[in-house]
Amino acid sequence: MLHVNDVKYNLTRLKGKIIAIDGPAGAGKSTTAKLVAARLGYTYLDTGAMYRALTHYALKNNIDPSDGKKLSALAEKLPVEFKNVDGVNRVFINGEDVTEAIRTPEVTQNVSEVAAHPGVRKAMVKKQIEIGKHGSIVAEGRDTTTVVFPNADLKIYLDASVKQRAQRRLLDLAKMGISTTLEEQESEIKRRDEYDSHRKHSPLTKAHDAFVVDTSKLTIEQQVDRIISLALTHIH
Ligand code: DC
Repeated sequence: MLHVNDVKYNLTRLKGKIIAIDGPAGAGKSTTAKLVAARLGYTYLDTGAMYRALTHYALKNNIDPSDGKKLSALAEKLPVEFKNVDGVNRVFINGEDVTEAIRTPEVTQNVSEVAAHPGVRKAMVKKQIEIGKHGSIVAEGRDTTTVVFPNADLKIYLDASVKQRAQRRLLDLAKMGISTTLEEQESEIKRRDEYDSHRKHSPLTKAHDAFVVDTSKLTIEQQVDRIISLALTHIH
């Protein structure tokens, strides 16, 4: 049973469904998707973390972010795994915990270029479809509503103003002990928006059947409630 606005809902009929959430950097996708997944007893699939893990590994092994051929071959064989450790989703490459390492500014600056190679996308999308094949999943990224799960049972496009998104990034980085400025984060977010929205392969676009949720003025709890309500009213 789930309580939304004091109404009790039976969750049995939501078993095995797919919820896909796309949107630009810093719109709050990860936090929201994680909480929605926890409320519904679903698995959370962070597709951005897979591109970040590949980028981290490439940088560590001196593979250039522009080398599509090498990166595509690597994407096919690199074992990226998600494990829940003490209630926290952690990311592993070859058994090494890279959860924090994939969030550094260096990875963030290079990940869009790595994720733009068609061979890289093909390999990652294949893995994502495999992870989602039994449903009961909340997938989050840039193309989960359009390319990875075009038949998702519920599609959400999460958005927020550039200023708001930059402020959130600043706080996230501060928690990791990394200090930057709001201006730096605004320009980084604009640069990534530009890159992710205008690349040739699977650019960030709003699926025609996605519900837009603007999070600029919503609390995390309100964002989560809104998506759960949409799931309860639109998934049959
Ligand atoms: O959501 P994030 O910041 O962790 O994503 C990192 C980068 O990965 C983002 O700049 C674009 C790319 N990405 C992508 O191309 N496709 C996805 N499904 C998810 C992320």
